Amino acid sequence: MTHYSTLLADVVYFPLNDFGPAMKGMIIGGLGIFHVFVAQFAIGGGLLMCYFQWLAMTGREPHARQFLDGFYKVLVLISFVVGAVTGVGMWFTSIQISPVTIGVMIDQFHWLWATEWTFFCLEVGAGYAFYRYAQYLNDKARLTLLIFYAFAAWMSLFWINGILAFQLTPGGWHDDNTALWQGFFNPTYFPTLFFRTVTCMVIASLAACVVINAMPGLEREDRRRLILRCAHFMVMIVLMPVFGLWFLAVIPADSRSWVMGGSAAMTMFANISIGATILIGGYAVIGLFMQRLYINGATATLLMALAFGATAGGEFVREGIRKPYTIRKELYSNSITPDQVATLRKIGSVTNDPYPVRNQEQYPNEQVILGQKVYRFQCSVCHTIEGANGLMHLTGAWDKDMLRKNIAKLQHLKTFMPPFSGNALELEALVQRIDWQNEGQPETWPISNDPAVLEQNRKWLDEAGTQPGWPKALARTE
Ligand code: HEC
Repeated sequence: MTHYSTLLADVVYFPLNDFGPAMKGMIIGGLGIFHVFVAQFAIGGGLLMCYFQWLAMTGREPHARQFLDGFYKVLVLISFVVGAVTGVGMWFTSIQISPVTIGVMIDQFHWLWATEWTFFCLEVGAGYAFYRYAQYLNDKARLTLLIFYAFAAWMSLFWINGILAFQLTPGGWHDDNTALWQGFFNPTYFPTLFFRTVTCMVIASLAACVVINAMPGLEREDRRRLILRCAHFMVMIVLMPVFGLWFLAVIPADSRSWVMGGSAAMTMFANISIGATILIGGYAVIGLFMQRLYINGATATLLMALAFGATAGGEFVREGIRKPYTIRKELYSNSITPDQVATLRKIGSVTNDPYPVRNQEQYPNEQVILGQKVYRFQCSVCHTIEGANGLMHLTGAWDKDMLRKNIAKLQHLKTFMPPFSGNALELEALVQRIDWQNEGQPETWPISNDPAVLEQNRKWLDEAGTQPGWPKALARTE
């Protein structure tokens, strides 16, 4: 395998921050879900505006223009302001939480990201021109601007989707890290692109129903007609199971097993997402499309909230089933590559980490400080000490030997964790750090340096091996 990125060749240390009781994944996930929702609204909104402009031009819908005037203000405000603020926020949080992952992806996809940015410029230019000048333009010019806007917005999805899908299924890029297009058009590229396109259309049409209800000067019958037009967009939701199943069929077997019961959290979130989608779909297809019901502002808002829930669940699952990797088989979530584990087992994972532990005076001895450093480097991306997915909650009742053995064999304890990547001394330091906290943080704490204990740690680490845990677990279930 050719390692093109130097970030994958050597261990690179970055300063790591702690976000208190919130898990790092929650910080990046929370902002990410919000950003994705807003961005998908912007893309679907562009497509929906093209449709209504066409309805207006062909005389099919007398109030189409009025709708456009109301809708694009909301769209521009949300997509330009909230979209841009959260988009830049995504860069900031990614760099804070997973600098190596984002570094590798910038390394690989530099020019693709630059290409995405040019489409973003086009989107903003066309959108703003419409916002500012639509009232002075003729229909043809309006439609042209809207098509530019919608095309550019969708193209930004086209580019970013490849980079996101790559993380779970890098495809042929595995064998050759310079095979850029194989990594980009990877096995989950098309199912996720189509799935997201439908999501965009559904979110935008739900938002449109909220806007239509809030627009002044319309008769109920006018609103009803406009809403039924939106329903034409919303029924695309029936395609979701097709793309969803396609996605499930091409993801790696271990990832699939998490959603199908292997991980309670993943399975639950997947079901929440599917349940919410079925509710929206049922309303759209049966209520709006078949029975031609009216949908009032409150119901439309509720459906929007459900759509947000479905998006949140879906994104959570997409991110979660990649564990223990951020780039499958290439980079673990804690920024260590599978190839580096064996070396770090020998030299120690934080021996070369130049960043000192914060507030050292609060720890009782050097060993516990070392343990904190090991925790920070290897575990803190997925765990906190006392908060979400807190190690105290998970190990509160364990004795020292349980801690030693289970952490030594971390990748077998739960296969969505990477192998422990430190030496026997670091393992002991981490155990002492956790146990010290579990015992109520006493002021004095003995240093643990019994050679027999370290020898046992070494044995357990050797038994665990340096490979990821999943192939063994999978072989057993197959
Ligand atoms: C890729 C993310 C990830 C990393 C890195 C990670 N863990 Fe975990 N760990 C998890 C998840 C997810 C769980 C499941 C929590 C649950 O069952 O609710 C878990 C569970 C655990 C458990 C409880 C297991 C059980 O069966 O009860 C322990 C102990 C644990 N982790 C320790 C660690 C330690 C120590 C480190 C660092 C050396 C670490 N983990 C690194 C994600 C991770």
